[in-house]
Amino acid sequence: MRLYVDSADVKQIAHLVEYFPIAGVTTNPSILVKEKRPYLAVLKDIREIIGEDRELFVQTLGETADEMAEEARFIISKLPGKTIVKIPVTEEAIKAMKMLAQEKIPVLGTAIYTPFQAVMAAKAGAKYVAPYVNRMDNLNGNGVKVVSEIAKLFSIYHLKTEILAASFKNIQQAMDVCLAGAEALTLSPDFIGKLVSYPATVNDIKDFKAQWTAQFGSAHSVLGNYGEV
Ligand code: G3P
Repeated sequence: MRLYVDSADVKQIAHLVEYFPIAGVTTNPSILVKEKRPYLAVLKDIREIIGEDRELFVQTLGETADEMAEEARFIISKLPGKTIVKIPVTEEAIKAMKMLAQEKIPVLGTAIYTPFQAVMAAKAGAKYVAPYVNRMDNLNGNGVKVVSEIAKLFSIYHLKTEILAASFKNIQQAMDVCLAGAEALTLSPDFIGKLVSYPATVNDIKDFKAQWTAQFGSAHSVLGNYGEV
């Protein structure tokens, strides 16, 4: 399982990259406009923080295949390292994906709501597909089921494209898509902390410390007051 940060907040990204096993950063237009400064400067700052080996995802806005392809080339030319172009899956996008596959520009098909959108993107050469799990649930759909169907179809047809699941409202959805076969998921910074925080663990640590201190004094770690050996 690979974990990505779904954010353009450089402070939060820096923190998460320091603490967690982060494979890269995903952005989209809604995420970038929140930063309220020129988007290319934001992306360059993110690239500096994550280095060239982690993936950085940037989305196109064009409506025609030619516009999408032109934006894709621009994005790749401006951001060194492993940069992936996100394109929302439409008919024009499928055409753009075929063009970009020929140019070896890596693409993620995004805003996916149906298994066939994912299969078409994969057949057109997309490296990743991003099903929008919670947005499907909000439309009376079943995001986890769609992820599992995509995984099954990719396996039946031996498609190498990976599922990078996106759009989550809770950790349960995130765990369910992992079990459904998603290779990767992108989570907002708040959710990433929640993957490891659990009140019982904090209580256990308190108990361990209290017992240790009762026996060995006020040592804060095993390095202090270890006695003669
Ligand atoms: O990466 C896609 C994601 O940002 C969409 O998530 O929470 O806006 O549905 P959300």
